[in-house]
Amino acid sequence: MNRMAATRTENITPFHVMAILERAKQLTAQGVDVIHMEIGEPDFPTPPAIVKAGLQAISAGQVKYTPAAGLPELREKIAGFYQHRYGVTVAKQNIFVTPGASGALMLAFAASLNAGETLLMADPCYPCNSNFVRLFDSHAQTIPVDASSGYQLNAAHIRTHWTATSKGVLIASPANPTGTLIDDVQFGECIQTVADLGGCFYSDEIYHGLAYDRHAATALQYSSDVFVINSFSKYFGMTGWRVGWLIVPDAFIDATEKLAQNIFIATATPSQYAALAAFDEDTLLELEHRRTVLANRRDYLYAQLQRLGFDIAIKPEGAFYIYANCAKFTDDSHQFALALLAAEAVAVTPGKDFGNHLAHQYIRFAYTQPIERMAVAMERLEHFLTIRNNTTR
Ligand SMILES: Cc1ncc(COP(=O)(O)O)c(C=O)c1O
Repeated sequence: MNRMAATRTENITPFHVMAILERAKQLTAQGVDVIHMEIGEPDFPTPPAIVKAGLQAISAGQVKYTPAAGLPELREKIAGFYQHRYGVTVAKQNIFVTPGASGALMLAFAASLNAGETLLMADPCYPCNSNFVRLFDSHAQTIPVDASSGYQLNAAHIRTHWTATSKGVLIASPANPTGTLIDDVQFGECIQTVADLGGCFYSDEIYHGLAYDRHAATALQYSSDVFVINSFSKYFGMTGWRVGWLIVPDAFIDATEKLAQNIFIATATPSQYAALAAFDEDTLLELEHRRTVLANRRDYLYAQLQRLGFDIAIKPEGAFYIYANCAKFTDDSHQFALALLAAEAVAVTPGKDFGNHLAHQYIRFAYTQPIERMAVAMERLEHFLTIRNNTTR
């Protein structure tokens, strides 16, 4: 009998930042004041109206399974949100409530990818994407991107890298780890190119709402024949509630429904009731205020990192990350991150968590801390760089 883990798990890559997080926790337990700039989770609590709705649901005994596609009233609210925010009509039947964007990515890939097919995505990008694809014995084909295309894929990339096994293209805007938004024209061209090639288009819009200079467009503004992944985790401040959504093209509704029933049965019921309050006017006002706070933090951190000598080719326009080139200081950003944590108790994420393309030259800083905390982090970082500079002379 073979009691070994399935071979498909062999290539599942761990989060390198977890080792950093683990070490940061040990330091905190020893009384060290660690500043966390490694985690992709805002420091804001879930807005009170959402918490209240969740608690009320539990008190009222709303703890049974919902339909697999989600509470009908939540699907309706999500549809209303697209109408209101983007002027796009989405039918309720195309919307599936999922356990976070993670559940949405898994469902979208389960519904559409066959073994041996490949999915095109940018390098760097969110690391779980390629691991999700592996679950279905498909492969991620990563395409190195740089500032010249805004760290996003464009139509030329897609045409150049498309092969007989290609099934589709995944784009995230705003992106993790670079925080860049795809240009509106480029976005439309990518969607059209994939349609011309007969492929599927997947748009991860989890950082929508967290764009500071211009609105992020949804792929649904260009076509209804796309998969859109979104979540209540980031903009709505509900990471731990595990609730998000997936919008699927008409042709995938039945397959997605069957898969959702079998894989999840349903998304957590109290979380779905809580999410009903996410679109309340007061909640949206609070979230818009938070967006302004994040924009100020972005400006602060961007200026500080540049002052310290980090190279940031494009000012990020969204999410809460800055992907900074540290080649001036090191040729191994992972070691740099470990040394920074050990010496100065500042935790950051090394580039190798997001791909291979020049990953050793990059660090991701998350501005999920107040400016006062980041100011302390910047003092410590400056001290760290000065000492390194002096010892390598
Ligand atoms: C680009 C991107 N997609 C998806 C996710 C998954 O988010 P969740 O499952 O919490 O909604 C994340 C989380 O950091 C992310 O950065």
